[in-house]
Amino acid sequence: MITRPRRFRGILVALSMGFAGLATHAAESACRERLLLDFGWKFHLGNDWGTGYGLAKAGTGYGPGSADYSDASWRRVDLPHDWAIELPFDKTADGSHGFRAIGEGFQQNSTGWYRRTFDLPASDAGKRLWLEFDGVYRDCTVIVNGWLVGHHEGGYNGFRYDITDVANCGGKNVVAVRVDASQFEGWFYEGAGIYRHAWLVKTAPLSVAPDGVFVFSTFKDGAAKGPAEIHLQTKLANTLGAAADASVTWEILSPAGESLAKVTRSQSVGPKSRADVEQTSLVESPRLWSPESPSLYKLVTTVSSGGKVVDRVETAFGIRTFAFDADRGFLLNGEPYMLKGTSNHQDHAGVGSAVPDAVQYYRIARLKDMGCNAYRSSHNPPTPELLDACDRLGMIVMDENRLLGSDSLHLSMLEQHVRRDRNHACVGIWSLGNEEFTVQDTQGGRRTVATMQELVKRLDPTRPVTCNAAVGNDYPGVNEAVEVRGWSYHVGPDMDAYHKEHPLQPNVGSEQGSTVSTRGIYANDPVRGYMSAYDDNAPEWAQTAETWLTYFATRPWMSGGFVWTGFDYRGEPTPYGWPCISSHFGIMDTCGFAKDNFWFYQAAWTESPMVHVLPHWNWPGKEGQEIDVRAQSNCEEVELFLNGHSLGRQAVKRNSESRWKVAYEPGALTARAYRAGRVVAETKVETTGAAAAIQLKADKPAFWANREDVSLFTVSVVDAQGRVVPLAGNGVELEVEGPGRIIGVGNGDPSCHEPDTLVAVASSHTLPIDGWRMKKVAQSNQEMAPETKVEFDDSAWGPVDVRADIGPLGLHERAFYRTHFNVEAKDLASPAVEIVFSRIAGGVAVYVNGHKVGGGADPRSAAVYDVKALLHPGENVVAVPIENYGPEGAGVSKGVVLRLTEDPPALHWSRSVFNGLAQVIVQSTGEPGSVTLRATSEGLQPGSLEVKAMPAAPRPSVP
Ligand code: GAL
Repeated sequence: MITRPRRFRGILVALSMGFAGLATHAAESACRERLLLDFGWKFHLGNDWGTGYGLAKAGTGYGPGSADYSDASWRRVDLPHDWAIELPFDKTADGSHGFRAIGEGFQQNSTGWYRRTFDLPASDAGKRLWLEFDGVYRDCTVIVNGWLVGHHEGGYNGFRYDITDVANCGGKNVVAVRVDASQFEGWFYEGAGIYRHAWLVKTAPLSVAPDGVFVFSTFKDGAAKGPAEIHLQTKLANTLGAAADASVTWEILSPAGESLAKVTRSQSVGPKSRADVEQTSLVESPRLWSPESPSLYKLVTTVSSGGKVVDRVETAFGIRTFAFDADRGFLLNGEPYMLKGTSNHQDHAGVGSAVPDAVQYYRIARLKDMGCNAYRSSHNPPTPELLDACDRLGMIVMDENRLLGSDSLHLSMLEQHVRRDRNHACVGIWSLGNEEFTVQDTQGGRRTVATMQELVKRLDPTRPVTCNAAVGNDYPGVNEAVEVRGWSYHVGPDMDAYHKEHPLQPNVGSEQGSTVSTRGIYANDPVRGYMSAYDDNAPEWAQTAETWLTYFATRPWMSGGFVWTGFDYRGEPTPYGWPCISSHFGIMDTCGFAKDNFWFYQAAWTESPMVHVLPHWNWPGKEGQEIDVRAQSNCEEVELFLNGHSLGRQAVKRNSESRWKVAYEPGALTARAYRAGRVVAETKVETTGAAAAIQLKADKPAFWANREDVSLFTVSVVDAQGRVVPLAGNGVELEVEGPGRIIGVGNGDPSCHEPDTLVAVASSHTLPIDGWRMKKVAQSNQEMAPETKVEFDDSAWGPVDVRADIGPLGLHERAFYRTHFNVEAKDLASPAVEIVFSRIAGGVAVYVNGHKVGGGADPRSAAVYDVKALLHPGENVVAVPIENYGPEGAGVSKGVVLRLTEDPPALHWSRSVFNGLAQVIVQSTGEPGSVTLRATSEGLQPGSLEVKAMPAAPRPSVP
C-alpha cells in the first residue's frame, strides 16, 4: 500500500482557509477598515525623473510624484509584483542574484515607479488614515498627493505612514512609490518592487495603535499543563486634542469559535498620546498548538469610548510553550521535540518574490508532506501570510532578522519586525542574523547582538533568541551573547567540544545539510549545470542529508536542524555558475516538485509507512550495465525486485538508504517495505514508452474567484500509458479559457532561461501639437484669466517656437501660450491619450478645452496629462499661463506632442517541461466560473483540465 498522496487533505485546508478569511474581515469592518491596496496600480520601469519631489517647498512632487501627472500609458499591475522576474537573464549580471539584468551595470532596470489613484469618501474626514506596505524591495520613497510622506530602505520589513493630514477626503488621491533596487541587501535572489501586499487602514482617532495588540500565554511553573494564563496587552492611540476615556474588552474565542472569557479594563488616554492597557484571563483546559495539531484561539479586542465601540481588532494566537534546553534540546509544550526544519528563501517559480498567499500555503503543505515541522525564514523577516500559513497548517518558525546592527535605524526595523510577528502561534524562536563573517567573533558583534536580544526580550519575553554563527567551537563574539547557540554547518567534533565547554547554553542546528542535486538527473553534468539527485554531493562547508542527520540523531541537545534548503531558489547556483541561474540546494525544486531527497527526509522524519526508489528506469543503451539503485524507507526492511525477480531484502538503517547495483534491463523496478515481516508500502519505477501526451493536474479542484487565489497546475509529459517520461523536455504552449489568467510558469530546471512570466508591451505613437502663439502680459492672476478659455480669440498673437531648448521669457515676465489643434475620432479611440510637454518652465497651470489639467509644472521633468476625457474630434484648445521668477528663460520648450498608447497585445504563454514536468500558476480574475487550462505540444496529444472558480466575496479592497 502506498500511502504518500495526501491531496484530499490539502484541498480541504485550502477551501476552509478561504471561508475563515472572509469571516475575519467582515467582522473587522464595523469601525476599523483594513482595505487591500493591491489592485489597479500603474508601473513604469526606469527612472526618468530623479527623486520625483522637491524639498524646498512642501507638497512639490514632480513628474510621477505630482498628483497631476498622467500614468495612463503605464503598465497596469496588481500587487504583489516583482519586476526582477520580468527581466532577461544576462551572463554579466550578478550570479548570486540569479543573473537577472538588475543591479550594478543595469541602472535603467533597477529603479521603478508605481502609482495608484483612488477616491476617498468625504465621510473619511476625521478618521486616521494609514498606508501600509508589507514589503518593498527596496529603498522606496512614498509620495501622496505630491507630499513626501516617507522613505524606507529595508527590503524585508513592513512599514506604514499616517497620511491623514495629506489625504484628500471627498476627492482624488494619488500614491506614488519610487523603488530603487540597485543596491542588494543579500547574496541571493531578492526581487524588486512592491512584492508584498499593500493596505489602506482607516481607524477612529481613538483606536488600537498599529501592531498594538500582544497576546501570550503562560502556565504555572512553566509546565504546559493545566489552565493557561492569557496575558492581554493593548496599546491605545489617541490622536484627539483632548484626553479620552477608553474601555478595552478582550474576548477569547476557542478554536471552535465559542466565547471562553471576556475581560475589560478602563483607561484614560491623554491628548495626542498613547497608553498601554493590560489584563489577564484564563483558559482552563487549553488545546495546545503544535505542528501536529495547530489549534488557534482568537482574541477579539474591542475599544469603546463614550458608550460607542470605536475599534475592534481580531488576533489569532496559539497556546503552547517553546523552550530550548541545554541537554534535552528543543521543548514543545514541555516535551523534547526534534526540529525537522528547512531554511528557505521566499521566491517561487514563475512569480519570483511576489508570491500569492495560496502559494505560501502550497509550499508549507509540501514541506509538511515531507515530514518537516519547522521553517527558517532565511535570511529575513517573512511575509505575514507565510506566518499565517505556518500558524494554520502547523509549522514552527525561526523568524530571522535581515540587517544586524544596534543603531536606531536597525533597532527600529527589528522592533517593527517583532511587534508585527509576535502574536503568531508558529513563531518559535527569533534569529538576529546569519553568518556575519566580519563581526560574529568580535566584541562589537557581541555587544550589538546583546543590545538586539535585549530589545527582542523586552518586546517578547516568551521566545528564545539565536543567531546563526558560521564558526565552530568558538565562543567569543555573538555566541557569548545569544541565548541559543546557532550552528551553521560545522557538523563534527566542534559541536561536541562546544557543548562540553558551554554545558548551560542550548544549541540549534540553524543551518544544516546540504545536498546539491537536480530533479531527475543521476550524474553530475558541469556543462548543463546539473547535479546528480543521489544524496552524494555537498559543498565543502556542508554535508549530505545522511551525514548531518546521522550526526544529529545521537545528539538530542542539538535540537534538530534546518536544512539548507527546502526549495531551490534563484541565485547562488552552487557549485556551478552560468548557465545555472538557480540553486541546487533544495530538497524540492523551485516549483516544489520533489527531488529524490524529499523521500530521504520523509523516511527520516515520518512514521507512516513509505518507500521510494531511485533512479528512473529509462536507460536505453545501458542494457546489462550496473545502475546504482537506492531506496529510502522508514520501515524495517526493503526488498527490491526487477521485473518480478527479487534482488534481495535489506535491513533499513534510519537516516540512511538501501543500495543495490542492478544490471539494467527495461521493465519495472519495484521496492517493497516491510514491518514485522509484512509488506506495508510499495513503489515502483517503470521504463516508459516515448512521450505521447500531456497530462494536467491541479493542486486543488477549485479556487476562490477573488482575484487573489491561484491554482498550481502540473504539466506532465507522459507515455501512451500515462507514465511521466523522465527525460522529456518538450516545449508546451499554454492557454487559459474562463476567469483565470496565467501569472507565471516554471519547470525547476536550474539552467533554463525561458521567461518565468510575460510582459505585454503596449505600442504608442505621437502626433505633434504645433501652431503655438504667445502673448506677454502684465497681469498676475492668470489662472482666472479669459485667455485660459476656449472661446478666447488669440488670432492676433504672434507665433512662438515651442521646440527651442529654452523658453523666451526673461526674469519677471508673464505670458500666455495657446494653440488650437485637430484630432480625429480614431485617435481618441486609443486607450491612453496624453499631452506631453517636454518642458514647461514657470508654468502656472495647463488648460485643455478650458479645463485645468494640472498646475505648477516642474521644469525638471516632462509634464504629462491624461486628456482622453477632455479632447473631442475636431479642434481642441490648449492654454498655458507662465510666470518667470527665475534667471533662466521660461516658457514651453523642447516640443509638445499628443501621445496615443494602445492596449498591450495578448500574451502567448509557453514553457518546456524539465524531466517531464512543468508548473503553471493560474490566478482568478475575479469572476466565478470554469477555468480551463489547455496545453499543447507538437506530436503530443494535448492536455486540458478544468478547475472551478468558486463564488467568493473578495477581501475588502480600495476601489
Ligand atoms: C550559507 C549561507 C546561505 C547560503 C549557503 C550556501 O553559508 O548562510 O545563505 O549562502 O551558505 O551554501
